[in-house]
Amino acid sequence: MDTTPAPRERDRLISELTEFLSIPSVSALPEHRADCRRAAEWLLADLRRLGCPVVTLIEGKGHPVVWAESPRVPDAPTVLLYGHYDVQPTDPLEEWDTPPFTPTIRDGRIYARGAADDKGQVFCLLRAYEAARGSDGRPPVNVRFIIEGEEESGGRVIDDLLEREPERTEVDAALVADMSYYAPGWPAVYTALRGLCYAEITVRTLERDLHSGTYGGAAPNALETLVRLLSQLKDASGRIRLPGLYQSVKSPTKEELATWRRLPFKEREFLKHEVTGKALTGLKRYSVFERTWALPTFEIHGITGGFTGQGAKTVIPAQASAKVSLRLVPGLPMAKVERLLSRTVKALAPRWAKVQVRLHHGGDPVVVPVKHQVFQVLDQAFESVVGRKTVRIRAGGSIPIVPRLAARGAPVVLTGIGLPDDGLHSPNEKLDLKQLWDGIATFRKFFELMGAAKRGG
Ligand code: BES
Ligand code: MN
Ligand code: MN
Repeated sequence: MDTTPAPRERDRLISELTEFLSIPSVSALPEHRADCRRAAEWLLADLRRLGCPVVTLIEGKGHPVVWAESPRVPDAPTVLLYGHYDVQPTDPLEEWDTPPFTPTIRDGRIYARGAADDKGQVFCLLRAYEAARGSDGRPPVNVRFIIEGEEESGGRVIDDLLEREPERTEVDAALVADMSYYAPGWPAVYTALRGLCYAEITVRTLERDLHSGTYGGAAPNALETLVRLLSQLKDASGRIRLPGLYQSVKSPTKEELATWRRLPFKEREFLKHEVTGKALTGLKRYSVFERTWALPTFEIHGITGGFTGQGAKTVIPAQASAKVSLRLVPGLPMAKVERLLSRTVKALAPRWAKVQVRLHHGGDPVVVPVKHQVFQVLDQAFESVVGRKTVRIRAGGSIPIVPRLAARGAPVVLTGIGLPDDGLHSPNEKLDLKQLWDGIATFRKFFELMGAAKRGG
């Protein structure tokens, strides 16, 4: 099905998306606080234009949540649409071919930070909603929008909101479009997300930095101590050395493993085009799918300490720290892993080091049942537009609020319109316009089919 809009409509959509993507809503950086609010306000104006009678900003200690409700449609089901308007930082900036907040179209793709994760997908939902409305401006289903501004940075505003007011998630289905297709032409529904435990480990060995000639050979080096400690947290085979960690992991079901074995996958292509390295690492006796979807990870994100300026400085650093994280799978809730990491790091610390483990943020892993009728409706929508039903896979990434979206029993549909090579969190993030047009048509169809199905049916 050709879903490309007519030229004038295409131009309108692109210029609106460009406006939204131009706002540098980086939630992790304090200097972008006002920009995050501007992105939220852009959404407010858009939702008002779309005729939502309830459009509000919900404030908390951080970036606001955008909440909106469509006009009431009696006897139709209610769908909650989730997305996030915040984006990841853009560094390293010099690796972008065009500036991250100057959206640019090349080869049918729009390049910008947030193009796929998640502003482009939020835009897709808004335009699908717009297109699904009747001549009276009423959509075929009741829609609630919840669009947060702290997904990428571990803020608590949406979490506090839904803890306080869980009835906001009392809906017939929640749709989360913050994921991607499995491959071009292969839309996906996700059966699980990994969780995350992000922490900073700090080591102090001295009161102040010392001359490395005068004291080298006798004084404890904080950076060396830190590196030795980190190296003991994972062995060369890729096994994480936190006692009991793997015993707690719940294995994927036979059905899941069988589905994954049937997926088209070429390890060499994956290595070359997505990973862009020379070899894959990790536990060799597990498939790449098991390693990236169903097993925990330990990553070192950055290390600071000592001298990193130009030239040389002969110094023994007094302090060093590392940002690390574990991805978590079913059986490994965040609180448990946090304790395990803290305890292990402290036990490994040599007596000359003062070691501190500070939790940054994270989220629990989640398993999502996908048997509910809403998944067949989504399949029907994808089939009519893309020509294929969704494949059921897992995600290696995390969306911390998902467990709360499911708390009142609504089925949570984890899906999306991106492609695996969109470069989320990387330089030159992009969204294929074809994916956007298909996405608008698919979600429009989804709303229409949901409206045709009877409430609770
Ligand atoms: N959209 C991603 C999550 C995702 C990535 C789902 C890939 C499916 C495939 C989300 O915006 C994200 O990046 N989440 C963070 C959460 C973290 C900061 C708590 C993540 O996974 O690192
Ligand atoms: Mn996202
Ligand atoms: Mn992200």
